[in-house]
Amino acid sequence: NQYKTDTYWLTEDIVKKLLPKRSQDSHKGSYGTGIIVGGSKGMSGAVILAAHAALRAGIGLLYTLVDRELVNTIETSSYESITLEMEEDLEKFKPILVNYLAKAQSLLIGPGFSTNNREELFIYILNNFPGKIIIDGDGLNLLAKIQDYSLIRENHILTPHPKEMSRIIGLTVEEILKDSINIVREYSKKYRCTIVLKGSTTCIGTKNGEVFLNTTGNNGLATGGSGDVLGGIILGLLAQGLSVEEGAQLGVYLHGLAADIIAEEKGYFSLLPRDLPEALALAFKKLY
Ligand code: APR
Ligand code: MG
Repeated sequence: NQYKTDTYWLTEDIVKKLLPKRSQDSHKGSYGTGIIVGGSKGMSGAVILAAHAALRAGIGLLYTLVDRELVNTIETSSYESITLEMEEDLEKFKPILVNYLAKAQSLLIGPGFSTNNREELFIYILNNFPGKIIIDGDGLNLLAKIQDYSLIRENHILTPHPKEMSRIIGLTVEEILKDSINIVREYSKKYRCTIVLKGSTTCIGTKNGEVFLNTTGNNGLATGGSGDVLGGIILGLLAQGLSVEEGAQLGVYLHGLAADIIAEEKGYFSLLPRDLPEALALAFKKLY
């Protein structure tokens, strides 16, 4: 076995234990609040996919924070989320933003966000949101652009694909893929956070140096937008009280399982990211 200790394959038995509890005697406050910060002109779909995913993952209340020009699109596509508008003047926006941030236990930043003129807002949110954060897509690209890894804390999850990982750590994609387990372990320990390196086998590293490997999922997921759904699922799980380590494991497993459940009936070719949130219902049911 080429893997040293502290490397585990995710199984149904492992992830079952991580499922959030639901009780009859509950209300939306029982299942947490999340915020998605993302979207830009031409990429509002990323926010919509993540929003549907967080909602189907059982979150109690969901906010999206987007540019003014996206508000209408998000409003008409996501009935259950509350849309908040980003103001261009950050100094004026800060006191309002602080109130928004105070509402949530978990935050997803990056899906379709663009990296243009987002640095200050990105840094402000990372420094002022005390809860659990998932940094995905352009959030990761911003991190690579800013090159300040002291922004990362232990209740953060980074969800890079190999190219995004490459931009952050400065190794080539080939170097990363050749030794992904050790590299994920090294950098999740170094940054003291959780790293989800996505691929056909997804590799999850924790701040303590454990690595979890996930093999649910299939080539039907190879369509732009699948990653946005994953971010939303994890956001929903974190809002319900899972730790970043737990949320990453269960979220990655469920995301793949939803795709496998669809593929069983419909095959691989036509699977779309938008199909995944609905299929999550069956994925949860299979684990419960
Ligand atoms: N088998 C299993 N899982 C897969 C497979 C496969 N063959 N192919 C893809 N996946 C899963 C990955 O594990 C991951 O969870 O689908 C998801 C893809 O996520 P991303 O790579 O982040 O792709 P996505 O965000 O949907 O779309 C492309 O990435 O390069 C950027 O700017 C680009 O925003 C764009 C985005
Ligand atoms: Mg992505």
